[in-house]
Amino acid sequence: MNEDESLRRYGLRPAERDHGAVIATKVAAVTPAAFVLANTCLMTPPLVPEITLHLAPEPIALWERTEQDTGQAGLPPPFWAFPWAGGQVLARYLLDHPECTAGRTVLDLAAGSGLVAIAAAKAGAAAVTPSETDPLACTAIELNSAANSVTLEATLGDVLGGEAAGNDLVVAGDGFYERLMAERLLPFLERARASGAVVLVGDPGRAYLPRDRFEAVASYDVPVSPVLEDADVKRSTVWRLP
Ligand SMILES: C[S@@+](CC[C@H](N)C(=O)[O-])C[C@H]1O[C@@H](n2cnc3c(N)ncnc32)[C@H](O)[C@@H]1O
Repeated sequence: MNEDESLRRYGLRPAERDHGAVIATKVAAVTPAAFVLANTCLMTPPLVPEITLHLAPEPIALWERTEQDTGQAGLPPPFWAFPWAGGQVLARYLLDHPECTAGRTVLDLAAGSGLVAIAAAKAGAAAVTPSETDPLACTAIELNSAANSVTLEATLGDVLGGEAAGNDLVVAGDGFYERLMAERLLPFLERARASGAVVLVGDPGRAYLPRDRFEAVASYDVPVSPVLEDADVKRSTVWRLP
């Protein structure tokens, strides 16, 4: 489905958006999908040009619009609208090493835009479950999977306190971005590993990643947004739980 077809499907005319700088107030109340479509453009992450995502050109204005247009305060930042460096390295790695994924069941934690989950699906996974706590991310994942001709249904909710067994491969792109999340993510990943799953994370050097618990698998230089990362390129690594 191309961008204009997506817009029409959600009741928008292509002229109602202007490459991300959209008058979103008019359309955001329609549906979450209309909000995502009205505030993003189809773009490819620099390290993963095979995948096309609905991404925002600029973070701050989108965050403000998310609160204004939904009428809710204290919403999470629109992580779903950007391809984070940790997700890009993980997606690159899965696409370049389909033997890790082909025929496996995959859980993508902190899925965001769905970049890593889409890479896993394209690499031949038997089933992929993207997990997210942000409802708009779940909407973006479904739109992004359609844009890449795969079908993914995101699971909305926090699974980190629950059962970690049941998947062959557990992945998390840029999940160690804040302390509390890191403190909850690591035990889940360790339980998944203890249950026999392969566990891979992608990380651009976040302070909360406990590197001593992982072994490095591959590293890439990832072009990133200077607005988000205060850098043009971040050396980022795929790590595996031994
Ligand atoms: C930095 S983004 C990474 C997104 C994506 N993996 C990437 O690399 O582009 C982190 C994501 O984790 C999600 N998140 C936070 N807590 C979570 C939880 N308990 N379970 C699942 N996702 C969570 C956020 O909503 C956010 O989309």
